[in-house]
Amino acid sequence: MSSETPGSRMTYGNYLRLDELLSLQSGPDGHNPPPSNHEMHFIVVHQAFELWFKQINRELEEALNLLNVDEVDEKKIPVIVSHLERCSEIFRLLASQWRVMQTLSPHDFLAFRDRLGTSSGFESWQMRTLEMLLGLESEQRIGGMDPMVHNRKLHSEGKLSDDVMENMIRIDNMPSLNDVVQKWLARTPVNGVSGDEGILQDFAEKHIESMSVHAESVIAHMVKIGHGTEETIRPRIEAGISGAQDFLMPDGKVVAARAGLLFIESYRELPLLSWPRRLIDTIVDLEQAMLLFRSHHARMVERMIGRRMGTGGSSGVDYLDMTLKYRIFTDLWAVRTMLVKRDALPGPANADFYGYSSDN
Ligand code: HEM
Repeated sequence: MSSETPGSRMTYGNYLRLDELLSLQSGPDGHNPPPSNHEMHFIVVHQAFELWFKQINRELEEALNLLNVDEVDEKKIPVIVSHLERCSEIFRLLASQWRVMQTLSPHDFLAFRDRLGTSSGFESWQMRTLEMLLGLESEQRIGGMDPMVHNRKLHSEGKLSDDVMENMIRIDNMPSLNDVVQKWLARTPVNGVSGDEGILQDFAEKHIESMSVHAESVIAHMVKIGHGTEETIRPRIEAGISGAQDFLMPDGKVVAARAGLLFIESYRELPLLSWPRRLIDTIVDLEQAMLLFRSHHARMVERMIGRRMGTGGSSGVDYLDMTLKYRIFTDLWAVRTMLVKRDALPGPANADFYGYSSDN
């Protein structure tokens, strides 16, 4: 029998702590004068984003921890995928949420913009944490910006709590999702064997050979259909092959993670590779969803403030457009350039190891 009484019954409002949540839309310390409808909308939209960032960070950290082990339990890969899929869906939702922001007219925004002072989404520590968890490095950021420097400064000025700072330092010291994905890929059994440099090297060299053989038929075909002359087409195709060589074997020595990745992408039909392949697709999907989110933000900002400087002091839209060049999982994108159609590749050795016979 339940010991619940009318007085102790859990309500919707109690469970969600709605009183507290709904008391937080009046701006810093309760604005005076209180926010207009437009300004409250601006606050609500930002808060909704931050709530979703909170959820994404939690999903990412759980996925990362599951992958950050010496031997990943096969059964955990679908769980990792589901965490990351949720992040992609949230980003897709957020990308469309800019449309709500856009119902604010530039003039209505200007009416309260001065109240923001120098505050800006640039200071969203949850967004920075999210980028750090994924693995966006300072060297990859515009101007080599290190988010820890700005946040340490805010902390030293008493504008960022100890808890937030400690959490950022903890995450900064952790491997990122990109780091753990690389380690996991390096352990991929290639041609049925894990960690054998000779086999990896042989696989990479044979792939380059397949690219070269296939290139000849592509060149012949393009010349035949009049898409250029051999002199114009050959250098471009050969540059692609030498790019693949540098990717797989910089300094002539194979990079295990890249060979593993290429193997999974090349032999996608092998049953044992289906979840690893799904994980790679999910990560690419996540980065794509995040880029679209960035892109939609930039277009909304262009519509709202034109080419004005941002409140955070950046060049505004120009800065945001530069962030569209960010790629965190660079190898996962790069490998696409060097794929060869399946029937121009040799069959995988030891196909039965992957739950499939090469005769199939
Ligand atoms: C009227 C609405 C908005 C305008 C005009 C605007 C404008 C800008 C501008 C100009 C920047 C560049 C940094 C700067 O100099 O300030 C920026 C950055 C940023 N904004 Fe917004 N924003 C708006 C709404 C939002 C909302 C609702 C969010 C959700 C949290 C958001 C999140 C961000 C983030 C995370 C950055 C940093 C981007 C990066 O450095 O990669 N913004 N915003």
